[in-house]
Amino acid sequence: MCGIIGFTGELDAKNVLLEGLESLEYRGYDSAGIAYFNDDGIHTIKTTGKVSSLREKVEAAPKFHSTCGIGHTRWATHGGVSDTNSHPHTFGKVTLIHNGIIENYHDLETKLAAEGKYPVSQTDTEIAAMLIDHLYQGNPMKALKEAIKYLEGAYAFCVLFADKPGVIYCLRNGSPLVACHCEKGSIIASDMVALIKYSKEYFVLPEQHIAVLTKDQITVYDINDKVVSPKMLYVNWDLSAAMKGGYPHFMLKEIHEQPEALRSTIIPRVRKGNLPDLSGDGLPHTIIDSINRIIITACGTAMHAGLIGKVMFERLLRIPVTVEIASEFRYQNPIMDNNTLVITISQSGETADTLAALRLAKTSHAKTLSIVNVKGSSIARESDYVLYTHAGPEIAVASTKAYTAQLSCLYLLAFSFALEKGKVTEEECSKEMEGLLQIIPAIEKALTFDVLAKDISKNLKDCEDLFFIGRGLDYALSCEGSIKLKEISYIHSEAYAAGELKHGTLSLVTEGTPVIALATQSNVYSKMISNIREVRARGAMVILITNGNVTVDSSIYDYHFALPHLSDDFAPFTAAVVLQLLAYYTSVHRGLDVDQPRNLAKSVTVE
Ligand code: F6R
Repeated sequence: MCGIIGFTGELDAKNVLLEGLESLEYRGYDSAGIAYFNDDGIHTIKTTGKVSSLREKVEAAPKFHSTCGIGHTRWATHGGVSDTNSHPHTFGKVTLIHNGIIENYHDLETKLAAEGKYPVSQTDTEIAAMLIDHLYQGNPMKALKEAIKYLEGAYAFCVLFADKPGVIYCLRNGSPLVACHCEKGSIIASDMVALIKYSKEYFVLPEQHIAVLTKDQITVYDINDKVVSPKMLYVNWDLSAAMKGGYPHFMLKEIHEQPEALRSTIIPRVRKGNLPDLSGDGLPHTIIDSINRIIITACGTAMHAGLIGKVMFERLLRIPVTVEIASEFRYQNPIMDNNTLVITISQSGETADTLAALRLAKTSHAKTLSIVNVKGSSIARESDYVLYTHAGPEIAVASTKAYTAQLSCLYLLAFSFALEKGKVTEEECSKEMEGLLQIIPAIEKALTFDVLAKDISKNLKDCEDLFFIGRGLDYALSCEGSIKLKEISYIHSEAYAAGELKHGTLSLVTEGTPVIALATQSNVYSKMISNIREVRARGAMVILITNGNVTVDSSIYDYHFALPHLSDDFAPFTAAVVLQLLAYYTSVHRGLDVDQPRNLAKSVTVE
């Protein structure tokens, strides 16, 4: 949530900041702003709306040439969307941008009011600017370190002090900041996508550390003023991965990138004899030996991946698995001990609730393993073990390639654990792995449904409600299909276990109600067909998805996707692609902002 960028060096800061904000816009897009040093001090330009509105305002401003500045794209938490509430915020000598939430801002505001200091905005961020200014007596490091003692909550700040031109001070507690120094200067941002134009090498600013950026170097200090050298990380993707590359939207590009994302995630983890090998990830195969319970915890789409993981783990390992919504789990006093394996799943690796769930698991001495896409992110760093999805940057707010890559990691874990526990023989495991490898060409084929999905979704664009139904793995996938459609098309939908419909919800199915019915699982296929008949009898418009070209009575559906045939366990991969395409085109037909849907933002770093 919220994108931050800071640059000081030899380049025109205006371009670096605006381009950086454009690449970070998926993190929040209700307002944007920049502040920069000019010959006569710090100037700020900010506005509600997207970065394109900021660009217009900047272009219209009197010409300036600055080589040092900060920029912010906002997802409002405290205070509505207005020019005044947009960042940067200035108070006295301090101008800052912030990602996170200052939880005790009201107390701080009261204390500052007692000193005769009042904010002009309704934001928690301005209170932070006021506090730092209040503590500032010419030594920025000292003021920032002092501020840590007062501030509660999560924050990443980039701060300009009016009497320290050309220098950016950054402080991190909870919210991410990554930085690099390159030939042309020093740059810091919330996410690597804003840095990739300048460097593939970067570091993550450690928690409660301060980075001081000058044009010649970045110096990182710990809380005791000791200079530290954070570990350098390297990304294996380039600028083109963070651009649309000819696609009209990032979401469509990312849907089409799934074969590559899965190849990169699976292939390096297959050893001779087609067996899973997670040793390159530092996962000892003994990790599962003492485990008698698995808890998967995550949010949104990542949690839906967990629902599929549960089915696979329980089927193969015969160990009880629960899937917990991280924001619930963290407050439920869950039962865990050192025989529990807690798996957290997160694309960004920064989701506040998932991170809190992980920290809670650690306090109970559970073993922790995370499935994460962003290297060096908080969840990855704090877990005992990490399995990275190599999906590349995911920029559309709606998660697509990260989801299927998360599924592939869960399958790899399930197979590898089953082998270790002696639940499958090497021969059986190798057969399962063969199935996993087959999903890559199958997804390539499923992507050719693009045109059909575009056509069929015209029938969804005007509906108000719809249902996704399925059983077993198909029900778990229905949950994902439903959130995907809701978040980008704003059409209400529900995912239902098909057998449960008649216990209440069937009353909502009337003439023309669209029902997307997943029938890919052979053990419940005939039951599923009966459930489809039930909705059909009430007039539902049925979009049927099957695994392979099964013979099915054509009177029970209006439209049919016959997926390339895979063994049942792997059908969620191809079916997910069809659901993603249906959601995508429904949003396009409704003329909506597919990549940046209203009220949402990627990377939910606040609770
Ligand atoms: C939906 C979506 C969200 C995220 C959720 C968790 O398409 O993207 O539901 O899955 O906010 O985010 P991560 O995976 O970054 O923890």
